[in-house]
Amino acid sequence: MLVSGGGTNLQVLLDRLGPDAPAHVVRVVSNRADSGALDRARSAGIPVTVLRDPADSAELLTALADADLVVLAGYVKLVPAEVVARFRHRLINIHPALLPAFGGAGMFGRRVHEAVLASGAAVSGASVHYVDEQFDRGPVIAQRTVPVRPDDTPDSLAERVLAVEHELLPWVVLELAKRGIPEEPVRLIEDGGT
Ligand code: GRF
Repeated sequence: MLVSGGGTNLQVLLDRLGPDAPAHVVRVVSNRADSGALDRARSAGIPVTVLRDPADSAELLTALADADLVVLAGYVKLVPAEVVARFRHRLINIHPALLPAFGGAGMFGRRVHEAVLASGAAVSGASVHYVDEQFDRGPVIAQRTVPVRPDDTPDSLAERVLAVEHELLPWVVLELAKRGIPEEPVRLIEDGGT
């Protein structure tokens, strides 16, 4: 996993990927030594790496040497093109909105939900997508919607979207693992989902 923040999505994966699961978190990599996600990884006995330079492809490729699949959750740095090329269709990210809307450079955290509310959108949600050379532009793998309430604030909307993320991300990781991490991009549709 590539992380920069508190790591609740990491925690959900650690909790959901039991001993018999077809996938396991083998390393947590961050651009921030003070990332709460690193503490969660250490508590679970998972090796961690703090990047000296997130733009350094060689350093990142070394950190990802054991990975079959790389999952970004709250990682705020652009992944270098060489790393994207090496992990094409094995590099995924979770984003707290219905891409392609409300994504791109600078669109992370509270700003996303502020933009959704400012737009008057009736629905928001979470997206898992493949990572390419631009922020939040790669093909969508799966999404789940969250109705926007008239009295929503950025924080109340963020909370409900995060709860949906915690269901969507483990589901996508397990589905990709069950399929052996397909080389070609897949679009997963949940039962009754979008
Ligand atoms: C999540 O909302 C994710 O969609 C976004 O950053 C947040 C990370 O949360 N890209 P956490 O660190 O997993 O709690």
